[in-house]
Amino acid sequence: MTDPLSALRPWEAPEVTSRGRLPMNAVDRRSGALPLDGDWRFQLLPAPDAPVGGAWSSSYVPGVWTMQSAGADDLPQYTNVRMPYTEFPPQSPAANPTGVYEREMDVPDDWAGRRIVLQVGAAESVLLVHVDGRPVGISKDSHLAAEFDLTDVVRPGERSVVRLTVVKWSDASHIEDQDQWWHGGITRSVLLYATDPLYLADVTVRAAYDGDLRVDCRVRDTRGALPEGWYVSGDLDGRLLAQDTEFDRVNAEDDRVSDFLGEARVHATIPDVRTWNAETPELYDLTVRLHRPDGTVADTSRHRVGFRDVEIVGRDLLVNGERVFIRGVNRHDFHPLTGRTVSYNDMRADLVLLKRFGFNAIRTSHYPNDPALYDLADELGLYVVDEADIESHDHAHEIADDPRYLNAFVDRVSRMVLRDKNHPSVIIWSLGNESDYGANHDAAAGWVRRHDPTRPLQYEGAAKRGWADPDVASDIACPMYAPIEDCVAHALSGEQTKPLIQCEYSHAMGNSNGTLADHWAAIESTPGLQGGFIWEFWDHGILQRVSDGRPAGRAGAGLYDNGVAAPGHRWAYGGDFGEPLHDGAFIADGVVFPDRTPKPVLYEHRELAAPVRIRCYRHEGIVLANHQHFRGLDWLAAGWELSLADGRVLTGPAELPDLRPGETAAVPLPFTLPEDGGEAWLTLRVTTAEDEAWAPRGTEVCAPQVRLRAAAVPEPGPAVPGRTVRVDDDGLLVHPLLTAAPVLSLWRAPTDNDELGGIARRWRTWGLDALVRKVVSVRREGETVTVLAEYAGTAGVVRHRQEFTPVEGGVRVAESAELPPEFDDVARVGSVFETVPGLDLLEWFGQGPWESYPDRSTGAPVGHYALPVDELFTPYLRPQESGGRHGVRRFTLSASDATGIAVELDEPRQVSVTRYRAEDLTAAAHHDELVPRQGCVVHLDAAHRGLGTASCGPDTAPSYLVPAGIHRWSWTLRAL
Ligand code: GAL
Ligand code: MG
Repeated sequence: MTDPLSALRPWEAPEVTSRGRLPMNAVDRRSGALPLDGDWRFQLLPAPDAPVGGAWSSSYVPGVWTMQSAGADDLPQYTNVRMPYTEFPPQSPAANPTGVYEREMDVPDDWAGRRIVLQVGAAESVLLVHVDGRPVGISKDSHLAAEFDLTDVVRPGERSVVRLTVVKWSDASHIEDQDQWWHGGITRSVLLYATDPLYLADVTVRAAYDGDLRVDCRVRDTRGALPEGWYVSGDLDGRLLAQDTEFDRVNAEDDRVSDFLGEARVHATIPDVRTWNAETPELYDLTVRLHRPDGTVADTSRHRVGFRDVEIVGRDLLVNGERVFIRGVNRHDFHPLTGRTVSYNDMRADLVLLKRFGFNAIRTSHYPNDPALYDLADELGLYVVDEADIESHDHAHEIADDPRYLNAFVDRVSRMVLRDKNHPSVIIWSLGNESDYGANHDAAAGWVRRHDPTRPLQYEGAAKRGWADPDVASDIACPMYAPIEDCVAHALSGEQTKPLIQCEYSHAMGNSNGTLADHWAAIESTPGLQGGFIWEFWDHGILQRVSDGRPAGRAGAGLYDNGVAAPGHRWAYGGDFGEPLHDGAFIADGVVFPDRTPKPVLYEHRELAAPVRIRCYRHEGIVLANHQHFRGLDWLAAGWELSLADGRVLTGPAELPDLRPGETAAVPLPFTLPEDGGEAWLTLRVTTAEDEAWAPRGTEVCAPQVRLRAAAVPEPGPAVPGRTVRVDDDGLLVHPLLTAAPVLSLWRAPTDNDELGGIARRWRTWGLDALVRKVVSVRREGETVTVLAEYAGTAGVVRHRQEFTPVEGGVRVAESAELPPEFDDVARVGSVFETVPGLDLLEWFGQGPWESYPDRSTGAPVGHYALPVDELFTPYLRPQESGGRHGVRRFTLSASDATGIAVELDEPRQVSVTRYRAEDLTAAAHHDELVPRQGCVVHLDAAHRGLGTASCGPDTAPSYLVPAGIHRWSWTLRAL
């Protein structure tokens, strides 16, 4: 007999969004439920209509089979825009992995007479539910829960078998074409719960900034008409709230009350309310109770309530009347061991990390997240753009206006809103991502605007029809990767009508996020610009065993550290599971490594988001400013640090002035600046004064810095008479501590931005990756040896000159390079040399301690730093230029016996010290393929190209390019 659910062939019927699936609501049923997580019997069928009957293995729920051994050969696959198959919507391929999950469940006998509901947290992409062989229902939307009423299907006190059939490919896959790994499975928890037949069908909480609280309840009774005399009550932090009888009367007169749907309101005005915002996320505990006519409690729902307003006034998005900056990030559900299943602790760790690095907002790219994420955002203080699970990227144009998908669009958007409407953190609804713009979007937008007029709505696909167009379904101008100049120009045009908040900007693929500081300089100084969401939080590298190419899965716990996979493992990206169709390392574009280790860009972000800023003015001296929107500075503690070029570092406690948001105050210089000591930098080290929910007391929040005294121009020491420098016949410096003499370098291992932005392609065309060096002359004049060399590429010749002069303790090297006009945008101009093994410690005076580049150096204060050479390198998944330090004035590289070299630069320069030549990095596809060299590869760059974000978005700004023409630099090399 054909199963009636399969007979509908729901996997190729976009009109069928569900069957038997209960309406979405915001009543929290997690407490008191029977959890059904754990090992389930499992078999993987080749297609949804293939017969079940093979051998059962087992699969862990929640989890995706693509990451588990039960998944056999159905492994993760990564594609960005394109669908992994050629079938046109709504078709799916014939080979369509289908997971059958089965387990017993013991229905508690005290659930007799109650309404019993099965909740499946999320299944991708089509879910078919059977209980004891009986068809129960169908659902789609891989990122929302589906609930089914089992009251008439199961028997309390008895055991039932629940079967969840999950079909991987479907018509719905065409609207779930997000840029991420494809998986199959049940990604969120499964549970069973029971309610009284008289139950809360939904609760809508509206808590306003002025303390006005309205809790609207919808009530139903499974037995039919509601009993006469039921009522609701509430309790807010212990304060009893009664049903609003006024509302009942209005409701009755309105003729909206039926015997089968109860509507009631609890209303109160809370005096001196503590309001919610991302800086001070004050929450109240609300318990809503539904009473039977005799007063006993039939149902309860708990909520954490935040009082706040969101509105758009003019072109400003206001939270509680304040024009807040949105320092956001896009976050996908990702885990290197479980693929798409993320635990509460994982989510909490994600959000805590974001708070510590100055973020105040998340876009749930590109689908609703686990309900717990919104609880955490409420609690920790993060604004959320809640995005519906709609992305039809590959077939965007066809689907946006395809009436067969109309139902799916409205269903997905409305279910998200119904579920998440009570979260103060959610300040904006998003209709989805990259699905063109069509009537289906307008239908969904219409539903949202009517149902929830309290929040703005955004959709990039609509906004790009016109940032100021009043007729498109977006209240926000929310472009992706718009150049800074375009945003500023729009804000200054006089045409702007909507807040401009980029839904994606500053693409974090590999060594990236150049010009983040330029973005923020523009945002903070241009009315109309309010921020954006960095793309993205995660590098989605899956932990993979190199031996058999399979995902390590849960067994891989702990097999990584500091962003690096343990030996025998690697972070897999597109193509690493043998997928014939894939988009490579484009999946690794986050601000954290797959194990959540922060990338250096996070320190840049933290500084750009600093709540306290410091400036030094000629007349006022040191001025501090509070750059928050709502908080004073009392939650912060601080200490001063004065770094002098001569190596001295003076520290002392700092008193933070009592400043309201936006206020500034001049503060006395905490030190008498020593007369001597050269260049001087004052850093304010700011930490949390008390425990915050996201940071224990003493956690560094920012370290703003100002220069108090500039460097004197260094005097090159006199030549040591009578000594010469050894230079061989090839014109190469001979030095006992160098294994490779300094030569000219114009190449860097291309970053992802260099590659995907087409920049490295030009470099290769010019032959910069394989310049051929030829000595032209070696001349001695007095103590100085001058070497002229030519470096020939395919498209031009660079003339390079080195003058070696013996100075006290070493040699001074003065260099120049003349780049022909053809080489008008190169990676770097500088010297590269290699040292003997054993020089394993770098100590430097310059910016640090983390990696920094010319267009990503705001978060790296000038100071005296020391790090082992092996810790300088950043292990980006696809090896590339990495480990640079900006603004280095001098450094030593030393062995444990204190021997080594000291280098002094003529001015602050970009320096890198690694175990890899640029060609080693260029040749490797994964970090684990790199073989560290024994010695150090040292680059001193007269100029180094900015990083930009050209892998997806604008390149770096012109001021960070390395142009043609003459470049000069000099440095001194001494033995320690
Ligand atoms: C955007 C898209 C994201 C991601 C990003 C590139 O266009 O919305 O999902 O693909 O580009 O990494
Ligand atoms: Mg896309």
